[in-house]
Amino acid sequence: MPPVPRRILPADQPALLALNNQHAEAVNALPPEGFAALCARAAWSGAVWEGGRPLGFLLALGPEGPATGPNHAWMQAHHPEAAYIDRVVVEAAAQGRGLGRALYAALAAWAAGAGFTRLGCEVNLDPPNPGSMAFHARLGFETAGEATDPRNGKRLRYLVTGTRRPLIAHFLRSPDEAPLSGAPGLNTSPAEPPDRVADPQIA
Ligand SMILES: CC(C)(COP(=O)(O)OP(=O)(O)OC[C@H]1O[C@@H](n2cnc3c(N)ncnc32)[C@H](O)[C@@H]1OP(=O)(O)O)[C@@H](O)C(=O)NCCC(=O)NCCS
Repeated sequence: MPPVPRRILPADQPALLALNNQHAEAVNALPPEGFAALCARAAWSGAVWEGGRPLGFLLALGPEGPATGPNHAWMQAHHPEAAYIDRVVVEAAAQGRGLGRALYAALAAWAAGAGFTRLGCEVNLDPPNPGSMAFHARLGFETAGEATDPRNGKRLRYLVTGTRRPLIAHFLRSPDEAPLSGAPGLNTSPAEPPDRVADPQIA
């Protein structure tokens, strides 16, 4: 069963920032104050933990308010109907276990309820990120555009989910799978009782 990502709390941020910065080529490094500001601004956040260790997290933004950067600005201008995935990271040793899919499924369940009809993101073309490109293709994302990030010269591709099927359907392995079912052993951290269930997030 997929794990239940839980909302990111302020006390979680140091561990998640360290995980973020281990993947700086894919998601750009941030200073603590930048990561805290992003968490505060996020429309949806979720992380998966195992015994106090973060295995992965996702931060998503809506189209409202000032852009947090050129990629959020692109998504605001071209796909305001999309919840924008600012960053997603699954630690190297936990990749391939379905955690990325579970984070997206939980985001999509919230996003559909909040009126979004797509998810959107960007993936680096140069330096290339073929793993992330394959992951997003597998989940049904389609090319929406390309650009060069003026902050760092990275070439990147914007991706959005299609609208031919319901948003949540992109992220379920089968039609009868529940999007927010739990998995024993995950999401147990000192800050979080093991029996805590998903924290529905309000737009
Ligand atoms: C990209 C990333 C989030 C994927 O997370 P993950 O937990 O490894 O992905 P999942 O295990 O949920 O995989 C979901 C599906 O994508 C496929 N997939 C994932 N990574 C893949 C890869 N490298 N090559 C081919 N397929 C891949 C899986 O086979 C799986 O298919 P299935 O569910 O139909 O069996 C993770 O690899 C990561 O954090 N990478 C480093 C940081 C990064 O690049 N972030 C994204 C920046 S745009």
